[in-house]
Amino acid sequence: MTSVFETIQNSDVRQLAINPNHWYVVARSYEVINKPVNVILWKQAIALYRDSQGQVHALEDRCPHRQVKLSHGQVVGNELECAYHGWRFNSAGECAAVPYLAANQKLPNCTIRRYPVKEQDGFIWLFPGDVETLHETSLQPMGLPEWEHLNYIATVSVINCQAHYSYLIENLMDMYHGHLHQDLQAWAEANLQDIEEDMNRVDAHYTAQSYYKIDKIWSISQLFFPALRKLHPEPLDVSYVYPHWVSTLGKDFKIYCLLCPVNETQTKAYLIHFTSLNAFWRLHKLPVWFRRFVKDSLFGAAQKLLDGLVIQDVQMIEEEQQAYLQNSQRRNYELNRALVSVQKLMKSQVK
Ligand code: FES
Ligand SMILES: [Fe+2]
Repeated sequence: MTSVFETIQNSDVRQLAINPNHWYVVARSYEVINKPVNVILWKQAIALYRDSQGQVHALEDRCPHRQVKLSHGQVVGNELECAYHGWRFNSAGECAAVPYLAANQKLPNCTIRRYPVKEQDGFIWLFPGDVETLHETSLQPMGLPEWEHLNYIATVSVINCQAHYSYLIENLMDMYHGHLHQDLQAWAEANLQDIEEDMNRVDAHYTAQSYYKIDKIWSISQLFFPALRKLHPEPLDVSYVYPHWVSTLGKDFKIYCLLCPVNETQTKAYLIHFTSLNAFWRLHKLPVWFRRFVKDSLFGAAQKLLDGLVIQDVQMIEEEQQAYLQNSQRRNYELNRALVSVQKLMKSQVK
């Protein structure tokens, strides 16, 4: 039997690469409008652009002519035009035009890499792995069914941290860190009950105390007024669904963290918080346009809470990374066995 006092060896997990054969999130939909956008996913510079039909494409962010960034250029019809000499590339990554091509010259055969990309639930999902594996497995992005659902109010906070993604995932899976957020009253008294593991996920089931209960439309005001909150027990389930994270607190809250690891010491992620209006059954009888109005006007209702949590977590995560960089030989003394499972999963994904 594994002891819960098992110490976790730091040395390799903080250097771990990613398993590229998954869908990662690289941007929010609204960020990709009419100009190319540069994103970095695990050390790969990628240019995202939206063509004249509204379709999003992802190409290696490198003009093969002189190696400058294509994302400095502009979108022309369905092609991406380099800023420097105006060469154009189509969505397959092929050179489609050179403005000064002489009549006796052929277009250069200089294809750049294209990445499978999908726009779904308000985000741009990108597959940086092996395209054949993608076709064989028909892997789909994790998806956020609550994003469009009229019964859920969304809030998004962006995490930019100078730390390896493992620190972020461990933070999200270790619910005993409610201690850090005491002033924000996110949850309290977490207690790990049970863990399930398989090749692609770790589910950790905690019991906890929640401060919020959303059973009436005005319960949303608990998000703004601490005096309205009352502690009560709720199940708190957190899951590492490689490479992302999802959690539910009772029936009222669902939270996702969608990862975009940048390199060994930098991670971008999107934290998406959904407040459920499921218990407010009277609302469901109202016309759809009104329900959409309620959903849209309450977008960002949990912003203060979510941003506050992110600031506190990022500070801890970055300190952990700094301590590791100063002395990678120091061992942690971990009491939460969910973290042992999480590290095992990360390592098993990266061969
Ligand atoms: S460097 Fe891109 S067109 Fe010349
Ligand atoms: Fe946290």
